[in-house]
Parts: sequence; C-alpha cells; structure tokens
Amino acid sequence: KDLSSMNTLGLASHADACVVFTDDAQLPDLTRLARTYERTLVLGGGSNVVLAAQVSGLVVCTRTQGVALVGETPDAWLVEAQAGETWHKFVDTCLANGWAGLENLALIPGTVGAAPVQNIGAYGVELDTRIDQVHAWDIQQGESRVFSRDECAFLYRDSFFKRQPPGRWLITRVRFRLAKQWVPQLAYPDLSACRESAAAGRITPRQVFDAVCAIRQSKLPDPAVLGNAGSFFKNPVVDASAWQRLKAGLPDLVGYPQPDGTFKLAAGWLIDRAGWKGRRRGAVGVHDRQALVLVNFGRATSTELLALAQDICADVYARFGVRLEQEPVLVA
Ligand code: EPU
Repeated sequence: KDLSSMNTLGLASHADACVVFTDDAQLPDLTRLARTYERTLVLGGGSNVVLAAQVSGLVVCTRTQGVALVGETPDAWLVEAQAGETWHKFVDTCLANGWAGLENLALIPGTVGAAPVQNIGAYGVELDTRIDQVHAWDIQQGESRVFSRDECAFLYRDSFFKRQPPGRWLITRVRFRLAKQWVPQLAYPDLSACRESAAAGRITPRQVFDAVCAIRQSKLPDPAVLGNAGSFFKNPVVDASAWQRLKAGLPDLVGYPQPDGTFKLAAGWLIDRAGWKGRRRGAVGVHDRQALVLVNFGRATSTELLALAQDICADVYARFGVRLEQEPVLVA
C-alpha cells in the first residue's frame, strides 16, 4: 500500500497492509487483524509523522465522521467529534453552531483523533484546555476506554498517547468542553489587529478564526503544495540561568517565561539565526518564511530529511548549547 499521499510531508513510503476505519463496529475485527501483524500504526491525517520508505505491519487509517452536541453544563457546551473528522473543518463547524473556543487552532492540519496525541497548540491556546474526555480503543487488549483530561497527562506537544507505541491506542472520538462565555485569547503578538478590535468592543470568534488563517497562510507552507509536517522541532525549554546566559550574548533572542520559572525559546529564531532559513539540500530544505518547518520539494526520503534535521540540531547545539527535540513521530 502506497502511503505517499497519506503523510503531509509527502515522503515516499509503503506499508505491508492498510485498513480503513470508518465505523466503531469494526473495532473487534480490527484487533483480531492487528494480532496477525507484528506491529500496528494508527494514521490520522499523517501530519505529524516521518514515515520510513517501508513501514512494517498494519496501518489503520481513521476516517470516522460526525460532530454532535452531547450535553451542556451551566457554563459549557459538551461537543463530541469522531476521530476521522478533519480538524480544521471541525473548528469551522463548531463556530457555525455557536461553540467558540477553538478558533485560535484554525488551519492546523490533521484529524480530530490525532489532535490530543501531540496536544496541538497555536496562538496562545493549547488543546488540552478544551478537552473533556478522550475515547480510545485498546488495539492490543480489544477493549474501549475513556480517558479523563487528567488521565491524558497532557504536556506541551505531548500526552499519555504520544508516549505509547503508535499502534496501541486508537482514539475513536474526543469530547470537548467549550465555555459558553467566550473569552478571546489575543495575547499572541501576531493577533494585534484583533486586540484593537476587541479594545473597541467588536470582535467575534469568526474574526479571530479568519485572522489565524491569514497568519498561518502567510508563514506556513500548505502541505498540498509543499510537503511539510508543521514545526519539525519543539520550542526548547531552558531554566532561568541558561536563559540569562543566552540572552546576555544574544540580546534579541526570543523566549517566553513559563509559569514554573523556566523559559521556552523560539526554536525557529535559533535555527534562523544559525543561518538555515531558506536553505535547500537536494529534495529537502528549511522553509523560507518559518525556519521551524522542514519541507519536501518532491521525491524526498525520510533519510535525507532526518540527515538535514540532525545537522540543524548539531549546529544549533554547537552555536547556542541548546538541544532541539524533534516534534513529529518517526515511524520505521
Ligand atoms: N522566528 C524567527 N525566524 C523564524 C521563525 C520564527 O526569528 O524563521 C521568531 C519569530 O519572529 C517569533 C518567534 O520566533 O518571534 C516565534 O515564532 P512564531 O510566532 O512563528 O511561532 P513558533 O514558536 O515558531 C509555535 C508553534 C507553532 C504555532 C505557532 C503559533 C511549536 C513547536 N510551534 O511556532 O505550531 O503555530 O507557535 O502559536 O510550538 C506546529 O506545532 O506544527 C506549529 C506550526
């Protein structure tokens, strides 16, 4: 099975076998099938994976559809979406129904089911602040389980699910808790136009959604045009003394203080400053408008891409003493 159109990096990749998951009734059969393979990989939109040329085992492609209001509390709407829903379309559907709170996460590639795995976040909102429950199927044990928000053990671009083997849990649906009283999140520097509108007393969730879409379109490559997996590195977190030491030598270094006293550095800034932005090496390169994004100009393999990533990490470490951590999951 050819997976090249099933990963947003567009890497050439083949799987031994692939099954499309469209209905919860398939789950027991899926477990029986998975037991006949040495390994299983669950794939949503393929926007956070680096696939090797040959992926051994069974690939499960989640395509379940559906969005519903399943309850409400005095303060919040409880909205449930099936895992195969396209994330951006789901955010749009929520706004159309008057359920605000996800607009800062507009245009993030991928599916609803993949969103909690890496705890997607953008423009001042992290997904975990909007999650109520995650329903998952334990592929190995053949049983379903509901994870409360706490049990998902969310961290920055990380969760319980991301720390598990990629074929253990199949997220089947996600329940969101969206506040009825909308509080716009406009602290992110790029949202200054929205802040002005808000100060003048006229801002809507749809306007924030449109602004986020416009910013992303201006900086981030569209995977349909240029293969990429969004940020290829996490923003590294350093302690206060390292921050002070770095800042002394690099006065315009960008970093954000964290509640625990640490600082989250802009990896894009470090990579940019190291001179990698817009550099091309064969079929792979560093995006010319956002140095955190590695791109596939066509026909790239994971080997070339990972070699570039490794060189960037080594160079950033040599120059700044900061270790970058890869964000997308590597699947061999
Ligand atoms: N910067 C540079 N050069 C670059 C890129 C960035 O100097 O080439 C500087 C910017 O000027 C800015 C700072 O670095 O001062 C931060 O850049 P930006 O606002 O673009 O955000 P980011 O830290 O690079 C993170 C997320 C993105 C998310 C944006 C917006 C991570 C790893 N990345 O990027 O998420 O969209 O913030 O909230 O946390 C993703 O995870 O795939 C992703 C795209």
